[in-house]
Amino acid sequence: MKHLILTAVAGLVSLGPLQAQNMPVYLDESKPLEQRIDDALRRMTLDEKIAVIHAQSKFSSPGVKRLGFPDLWTDDGPHGVRPDVLWDEWEQAGQTNDSCVAFPALTCLAASWNTDMARLYGESLGEEALYRGKSVILGPGVNINRTPLGGRNFEYMGEDPYLASRMVVPYVKGLQSKGVAACVKHYALNNDEEYRHQVNVIVSDRALHEIYLPAFRAAVQEGKAWAIMGAYNLYQNQHNCHNAILLNNILKRDWGFDGVVISDWGGCHSTEEAIVNGLDLEFGTWTDGLTMGKTNAYDSYYLADAYKQLIREGRYTTKELDEKVRRVLRLFYRTTMNRQKPVGFLCSDSHYEAALKIAQEGIVLLKNEGVKGKGERSKEATSLLPLDIQKTKRILVVGENAIKMMTVGGGSSSLKAQKEILPLDGISRRLTGKDYSFPSTFGEGTGVRLDFARGYVGDTVQSYNGVTVGRSLYETRSTEELIAEAVEKARQADIVIMFGGLNKSDYQDCEGHDRKQFELPYGQNELIEALVAANPRLVYVNISGNAVAMPWLNKVPAVVQGWFIGSEAGEAIASVLFGDVNPSGKLPFTWYASLDQCGAHATDSYPGTWREQGAGRGIIDEEYKEDIFVGYRWIDKMESQKPKAKGQKPLFPFGYGLSYTTFELKNLRADKQEMTADGQLTFTVDVTNTGNYAGSEVVQLYISDVQASVPRPVKELKGFSKVFLQPGETRAVSITIDSTALSFYDDKAGKWTAEPGEFVAMVTQDGSGLKAKSQKLNAKFVLR
Ligand code: BGC
Repeated sequence: MKHLILTAVAGLVSLGPLQAQNMPVYLDESKPLEQRIDDALRRMTLDEKIAVIHAQSKFSSPGVKRLGFPDLWTDDGPHGVRPDVLWDEWEQAGQTNDSCVAFPALTCLAASWNTDMARLYGESLGEEALYRGKSVILGPGVNINRTPLGGRNFEYMGEDPYLASRMVVPYVKGLQSKGVAACVKHYALNNDEEYRHQVNVIVSDRALHEIYLPAFRAAVQEGKAWAIMGAYNLYQNQHNCHNAILLNNILKRDWGFDGVVISDWGGCHSTEEAIVNGLDLEFGTWTDGLTMGKTNAYDSYYLADAYKQLIREGRYTTKELDEKVRRVLRLFYRTTMNRQKPVGFLCSDSHYEAALKIAQEGIVLLKNEGVKGKGERSKEATSLLPLDIQKTKRILVVGENAIKMMTVGGGSSSLKAQKEILPLDGISRRLTGKDYSFPSTFGEGTGVRLDFARGYVGDTVQSYNGVTVGRSLYETRSTEELIAEAVEKARQADIVIMFGGLNKSDYQDCEGHDRKQFELPYGQNELIEALVAANPRLVYVNISGNAVAMPWLNKVPAVVQGWFIGSEAGEAIASVLFGDVNPSGKLPFTWYASLDQCGAHATDSYPGTWREQGAGRGIIDEEYKEDIFVGYRWIDKMESQKPKAKGQKPLFPFGYGLSYTTFELKNLRADKQEMTADGQLTFTVDVTNTGNYAGSEVVQLYISDVQASVPRPVKELKGFSKVFLQPGETRAVSITIDSTALSFYDDKAGKWTAEPGEFVAMVTQDGSGLKAKSQKLNAKFVLR
């Protein structure tokens, strides 16, 4: 037998050149891609062409069997590879080989401000996708965080178009380097979840181009994304999955996108608009798979039989169809037909290491003060964090979020993680070498006793779409009883760590709806007040993808933003709390004190105004009245207009985050004082680690246009660099800009422009306003 196989293989090898001679062009890897596409297209029948532009199951679309093109399998995205569902149901298929590594949610990735982490993220996810046989990952998401109520902000990369652009490009490149397509979503203006199928966004051209499109454009032009997903909502009264301006004009004509536009699942609403307005591949249009179609429910898709009929009737030639098929074939060659693809791995050690590293780099230390004597908080006393095990004998962990799995829930990004270390277990492992076991766990080596109190009940449902894991959340006690227990235990503890925040349940951080309130849910504010009164040595760890109101902030000495950080959550958080890792994350959005500090709410332009309402088909017009002043741009504008007005300072500015060490920025210099429109300018600053811990600092460069013919933000992020320094070490950090960093979108001319004149470059560690006390350095320069 062995002999026979060897002979057969030898035969194949010797046949190689002969085969190449007869090989059809579309299969010949030595031929240019576009020639192969032309050849394949010529060979395809009308039915085959129609078949490849719409789905055949929830997540797959057909290849061309006759010609040897395999089916195309897509999957969510963006934080790990979603478990398989049934052919035409959202229900889990119940496979036993589809668990994955859950990577941190994209807000955490953005908070790392480290482009190497984004590359690592994309590569690791790509390898998981390859193993699972997926050729398109439905992600990353780069919609801008316009309001902290946005239900899917946790899946996106924050409020700033520059930061999101820099982070999305390496993610896309990393993923695609494995032969797996990124499908960047949701293009565009899908900034809130409430009424997402009905929102008609009204936005100025400037805000569209300066705020909402740059990350998509970077993903397309720099990242060379192979696919993009149209959004559910409308722009200029047309659904975005077949929107002439967004798809034909901007994406395909202006940006030169050569990939595939995929509809969001159920986002296609019209055959004719889909034909002419740039949709290439239709997915998720409603069908129950059984009763809707005569032979095949998918024949009822907008781009299926209905399209074929229009061609047969002569209403359309195959011009548009061929263009769509051409793009789909290009995607096939880049993915399913790519014979150079590497091998995939699922749940490998290196993927867990990547998930841990990204989580550790994204966790943000928001506050870290000390407590003196019986309770007076003090900046002089040693900061609460990192926790000193030598001086601690009893630690109390409080809160549902310490024992709630967060890799499930939240909508389409929900995962079946092979493992998820819960925060309580992460802390327990660090102190006692084992997972937490009730009623308390003792660490022989450390001599520390770890206790837990539930404190509050949020959502006790422990399974989501068929995935059930984690510790039991069953609870029968009343709110009063839970608080009383937590307070009692807090009195006996040396330190209390509360895990609260949001979760991925409906109306928290979850697809389909926005949050209803900025305040913490489930009575957590009362619990925090009670805890800090009982024991002032309280560390509050907030688990969420959005900011929340913190009315008790001045009473709580230490606050950490812990995000939704996937498989290694507990491990990552414990490593930061105990100082094994020095936190270096910076906020990718403004942490408002109250909603009225946010432009969308201050202008009363969220969630919009119903135009016509009826039978679920009404349209809600949402005018983005804050215009280009989103996030810190709005805060800065208010501050510059009324410098003395009270109540406009956010709790924490965009770009903010502390460290266990301190850094000093000094000696900002530019390599010249003037630059030309086609030139560059390099700023250099000396960064010194002036504290006692090794750690990383993010140097942030903001640009202000001193005199402009149009209103411009007070400052805009245009460069950053993360640098790791040993205690006492100094390094010169350089950031280079060109005139794109000075440009605005000229809506009259329809293009970007940089006006000659004076500009100021500001370098800071925390993005705070121009008048903030924090350390910042300014340099003036001129564009000629
Ligand atoms: C979501 C997409 C997702 C798709 C497939 C839609 O509801 O908006 O982000 O990729 O479902 O699960």
